[in-house]
Amino acid sequence: MRRWRHGIWTLVLLLALGLGWWLFVPGRLHEPTPAQREAESAQLHDPALVARGAYLATVGDCAACHTARGGRPYAGGRALPTPFGDVPAPNITPDAETGIGQWSFEDFWRALHEGLGRHGEPLYPVFSYTSFTKVNREDAQAIFAYLKSLPAVRQPDRAPELAFPYSVRQGLVAWRALYFKPGVFQPDASRSAEWNRGAYLVQGLGHCNECHTTRNALGAMDEKQRLAGGEIPAQGWYAPDLSTQPGGGLAGWSAQDIVDLLKTGQSARGTAFGPMADVVRNSTQHLDDADLRAVATYLQSLPPRTPAAPVEVARAADLEAGGKLYGERCADCHGQDGKGVAGVYPPLDGNSSVTEPTGTNAVRGVLLGGFAPATAGNPEPYSMPPFAQQLSDEDVAAVVNYIRQSWGNHAAPVLSADVSRLRHTPVD
Ligand code: HEC
Ligand code: HEC
Ligand code: HEC
Repeated sequence: MRRWRHGIWTLVLLLALGLGWWLFVPGRLHEPTPAQREAESAQLHDPALVARGAYLATVGDCAACHTARGGRPYAGGRALPTPFGDVPAPNITPDAETGIGQWSFEDFWRALHEGLGRHGEPLYPVFSYTSFTKVNREDAQAIFAYLKSLPAVRQPDRAPELAFPYSVRQGLVAWRALYFKPGVFQPDASRSAEWNRGAYLVQGLGHCNECHTTRNALGAMDEKQRLAGGEIPAQGWYAPDLSTQPGGGLAGWSAQDIVDLLKTGQSARGTAFGPMADVVRNSTQHLDDADLRAVATYLQSLPPRTPAAPVEVARAADLEAGGKLYGERCADCHGQDGKGVAGVYPPLDGNSSVTEPTGTNAVRGVLLGGFAPATAGNPEPYSMPPFAQQLSDEDVAAVVNYIRQSWGNHAAPVLSADVSRLRHTPVD
């Protein structure tokens, strides 16, 4: 909490600076002429362009945020939780009044590339434009063509529900000056075409950084720690470090393990659950094999990590009680040796979801159970029952500490207070 409060005071200062600057920012950019509009609209109807845009919008997982539960696709309304309050995703169907029907490609490019709304207003970075800025113009055009081809849905946008001072949109002018630099992905000539494709997808449209990177008190990503793992604060999950090198969160994962996880939701090393299950279901399972291999090639090139915490972690006091619970409640599926059953139950020994620094994912997994995504590659995945009703906070802490400190695992213990907090974190 202290961190957030400190953040508020910093923001008040930034807000004052931002307001000063805002006065000098030129207003609405010029409108295209009717002739320009017509030419643009003819170009956008090219079916090949629309089809490519559909694929790219899937890579970008645009529908996941821009669709309310049970709502019409892309019509907006889903509220994205942040530590500062909820920001609903707007309607991006081509409805003239409530969607992007009147937007030109330049308007759309400014949103994706610069994070600015149609009237030049700064957008909240919960819209992942800090990553989407790396998308090139040709791909942006294809996505725009696809969005324009959707059925128009009339559904007015809701206003964000943010606490002061975050509710003052202009405060973002200062945030952006500090933390956001627009720029299309620049290929690295010393690397292979496959590596560059993977980097473009991971850093850009796939926006993997947005979850897998630590954020500061003002919600900005730590540039030096890209993909090194981070908490998703308002949702109560931890997205682990994605390095496959020694010390990395995915140490020892082969390129095939990564491809399997992204394509089927399951791999020899672990299964996707929580927010990652949604990412696999809505987005990565639909990527073509060449793109999946490119992503794996790029992730395999991430550097080795030096462990931040001391390697000698304190032994949890409740290991004996935890071991007993494990034998009774878990070993039938995950095995007394924590090795799981290949293709059915994930191993817990050496599993990044078990050993990630915070213990959040193991606690959430035990409380909520695990539901791997059903994918074309794995249509009927096994699931894990929730234990929230059967186990007390102390029991959950004990069994989680047991799996974090058994076999080859040496992770710091969790407290029953952590379990209590996570028990009350709403499930999105
Ligand atoms: C993590 C959730 C998330 C994802 C993924 C996402 N968006 Fe958004 N988007 C938002 C939110 C929230 C806003 C509203 C931001 C605000 O109010 O400042 C937004 C705003 C926008 C806007 C501005 C609309 C307006 O009316 O001002 C456009 C255009 C847009 N998104 C397009 C896309 C496209 C295209 C993709 C996929 C490539 C995408 N979004 C992916 C959450 C998301
Ligand atoms: C909405 C947040 C979010 C986004 C976006 C996201 N991830 Fe994840 N990811 C998570 C969380 C949370 C976990 C931990 C749960 C789990 O292991 O499934 C995770 C786990 C993983 C794992 C390890 C799975 C395991 O079994 O240990 C891999 C690999 C991964 N993500 C790759 C990616 C890639 C590649 C992208 C971009 C294409 C991406 N993620 C985008 C949240 C996200
Ligand atoms: C009925 C079989 C079953 C039982 C009993 C069971 N699990 Fe699981 N567990 C699974 C399956 C299947 C998954 C994968 C689900 C998913 O990916 O969403 C899983 C996933 C997990 C994960 C996340 C790992 C990953 O990579 O997805 C953890 C941590 C975990 N279980 C711990 C436990 C603990 C601790 C217990 C006992 C309290 C337990 N499980 C009991 C079947 C079981």
